[in-house]
Amino acid sequence: MEERIREQWETNAEAFSGLIDGRGTPHHRSILNPCVEKLLGEVRGKKLLDVGCGEGYLARYYAKKGAIVTAIDLSQRLIETAEQLSVIEGIEIDYRVDNVCHMESVLEAEFDLVLCNLVLLNIPCLDDAIREMHRVLKSDGVLVFSIVHPSFNFYGPGSWQMGEKDPVTNRREGVFFKVDRYFEEVEYERYWKTKDGGSFPVPISFFHRTLSTYINSLLSAGFCLVGFAEPQPVGDDKFFDRERRVPFFAVFKATRMK
Ligand SMILES: C[S@@+](CC[C@H](N)C(=O)[O-])C[C@H]1O[C@@H](n2cnc3c(N)ncnc32)[C@H](O)[C@@H]1O
Repeated sequence: MEERIREQWETNAEAFSGLIDGRGTPHHRSILNPCVEKLLGEVRGKKLLDVGCGEGYLARYYAKKGAIVTAIDLSQRLIETAEQLSVIEGIEIDYRVDNVCHMESVLEAEFDLVLCNLVLLNIPCLDDAIREMHRVLKSDGVLVFSIVHPSFNFYGPGSWQMGEKDPVTNRREGVFFKVDRYFEEVEYERYWKTKDGGSFPVPISFFHRTLSTYINSLLSAGFCLVGFAEPQPVGDDKFFDRERRVPFFAVFKATRMK
């Protein structure tokens, strides 16, 4: 299983880096990232671990804000890309190829902050990953992780009933969101689209889980849940009409209890 998932990200690494384009997609920039930043709080001078960093744009962003950043990812190719992009920008980040489910390169109680952005919905080993992120945090350290909202995830139990295409936004109108089989925790495979509308080379695995599964996993690892957000788009861009009506992302903030 682990090897299959690693292979997916290795094969998709170039397409994924192209999609992220050094700054995240419009959904990331207008909905998710401002919320994650608010929940992380002040990062200056803090030791931050970016888990599943991808091509590393958030690692670079928080390093520029003054955090001392270590970043890990399962994909060797994505770590190589992240290293190259950091060199170009002259930013120092400690990159490692490692697996969140058993982080062999990371010592116990090393970090003030752990960021895990849009990763846990792509891994089979949720409880192991949460326990590992607990292990590497100092006492009172903060974990912020985001996922695509599992109640309204079209890779999971639901989808929009679409209407006509809006000629201004070039997006189809959302008539309503339909949900079913929310409690079926299953794996889905989906092809992502590149920035120019082509297909990623191979499909990506997604693991649908309920909100209570995420919360219970945090609590049983010894975390205290201190924040939860369903961020809405910033601004009033009509493009995000659907995301203003139904949450696209869910963001959790938890602290490691002593
Ligand atoms: C959707 S991407 C998110 C990347 C980055 N956090 C971002 O926001 O751009 C998911 C990332 O998780 C990584 N990943 C998947 N399984 C992993 C694992 N078991 N351990 C570490 N990273 C993993 C993938 O290689 C990929 O870079």
